[in-house]
Amino acid sequence: MSPPKTLLLGIETSCDETACSVVAEGHQVLASVVASQVDLHRKFGGVVPEIACRAHLQAIIPVIDEALTRAQVSLSDLAAIAVTYTPGLVGALLVGVSAAKALAWTLGIPLVGVNHLEAHVYANFVVHRRIELPFVALVASGGHTTLYQGEHVLDMRLLGGTIDDAAGEAFDKVASILELGYPGGPEVEKLAREGDPKAIDFPRSFLGKDSYDFSFSGIKTAVLYYCHGQNVAQPRRKLSFSRQELADIAASFQEAMVDVLVGKALQAARNTAASSVLLGGGVCCNRALRERITREASDQGLALYYPPAELCLDNATMVAGLGWELLRRGRLAPPELAAVSELQL
Ligand code: KG4
Ligand code: ZN
Repeated sequence: MSPPKTLLLGIETSCDETACSVVAEGHQVLASVVASQVDLHRKFGGVVPEIACRAHLQAIIPVIDEALTRAQVSLSDLAAIAVTYTPGLVGALLVGVSAAKALAWTLGIPLVGVNHLEAHVYANFVVHRRIELPFVALVASGGHTTLYQGEHVLDMRLLGGTIDDAAGEAFDKVASILELGYPGGPEVEKLAREGDPKAIDFPRSFLGKDSYDFSFSGIKTAVLYYCHGQNVAQPRRKLSFSRQELADIAASFQEAMVDVLVGKALQAARNTAASSVLLGGGVCCNRALRERITREASDQGLALYYPPAELCLDNATMVAGLGWELLRRGRLAPPELAAVSELQL
């Protein structure tokens, strides 16, 4: 008889998705439930922390129940609870952390605290059973843009990160300037397909030859000035571009973002003698980015891995998966685990 599988319940509430997954042995997904708050935040054009916290509170228990039901397991089958405790909106993280602590304590099972960005990297290990090591990982999401170098997902060094806006934030803000929908990334990508990526030469900020940091506030402002002029008035006038002109702006902006993200990830891979590049976070759903990095990584002899869209976007499967790795190494969270909003360097 095969030994019983180690089942983890993962909980993710760092931003605007209340998610819960049941995962065996770090990669067999028995259930993954994601309750998105996107409809609540749409009219504000971004995530409103107070609304996010309240929505997490309302959703957390039903989402946990739904995950257990879909997985056809009960609480007593769980070996541990894994929860995202950093980084993110502190009030949002607190909902997941409190639920996880209460569950672990009442069930008498271990609690594991997971870093959300490392979980985005781990998403690759859920789907790719053999990953060439060492790797460089690019996490590009709505809240963060970070580059890591690693031998293992539990042994990663942060190479750099954004000094201002995150990549996803830049996509969302440009979508708002172009009067597209929210969240903006997929809308910009859709419109960009009709445009010429060489039409407008938006600035690419590389912050020095060997820097692994990112800066996206300049390009966002460049798009704003391109659309409204430098003396942009509040409230802004309606845009008077044709569909083709708008598509050219979207495509040129996306091209500049891809140049920087792909350029820095591959430069980091070269400089650290990595064998592979891993992608994670919502922006890595972007097809232009995937196509470019697939081509250039292959030209440089690098293996490339990325998760499917549902594992690039926020989810709790990656949390349960990384939680399993931590559990195996005895890296448990203390019962007083706190929510930490800022990324600790
Ligand atoms: O990883 P994620 O789900 O949440 C955070 O941890 O922030 O990422 C969400 C971000 C949003 O800013 C969204 O606009 C962006 O990922 N995004 C995209 C695409 N799909 C989602 N950006 C560019 N192209 C896409 N196709
Ligand atoms: Zn995320």
